[in-house]
Amino acid sequence: MKDLLTLRINGDSHEVAVPTHFTLLETLRYVIGLTGSKQGCDKGDCGACTVWLDGEPTLSCITPAYEAVDREVRTVEGLVGLHTAPGVPHPLQDAFDLCGAAQCGFCTPGILMSAAALLEENTAPTREEVKEALSGNLCRCTGYTKILDAVEAAAERMRRHPADA
Ligand code: FES
Ligand code: FES
Repeated sequence: MKDLLTLRINGDSHEVAVPTHFTLLETLRYVIGLTGSKQGCDKGDCGACTVWLDGEPTLSCITPAYEAVDREVRTVEGLVGLHTAPGVPHPLQDAFDLCGAAQCGFCTPGILMSAAALLEENTAPTREEVKEALSGNLCRCTGYTKILDAVEAAAERMRRHPADA
């Protein structure tokens, strides 16, 4: 059994036939082909699947696909060009690269979405505020220091160059 859903993802409209039991994550990855959002624990514990629903970080692995109807979904693919020219990475993506904040990279899409949501609201977060924003995102590789450094570096760039960030 499938439902016909119209989803707005990264500014584009997608009309898709989705198995009734599919989550938003399964729909993104296996129906639409946006595989940036990762399937980690698949039960709401790790944050690897984080996307935005109407700008709010949301665990897509525990969100039924139909809950995204009539809402704006943004995935990690949609960070490119957000606050930058089309095709240009988000300041956070540059900062993660420069700071070595991704190792295996499995957690990175979810962390980028949580951090980007924070920086939408606050481009001068304290270290504690960054930690709080990322508290639902687990990383098995980096030890977190470089991730926190990268978020702070991106925030600084967004403060110094608000026009291109
Ligand atoms: S895959 Fe969704 S929280 Fe782990
Ligand atoms: S970089 Fe490997 S889990 Fe975070």
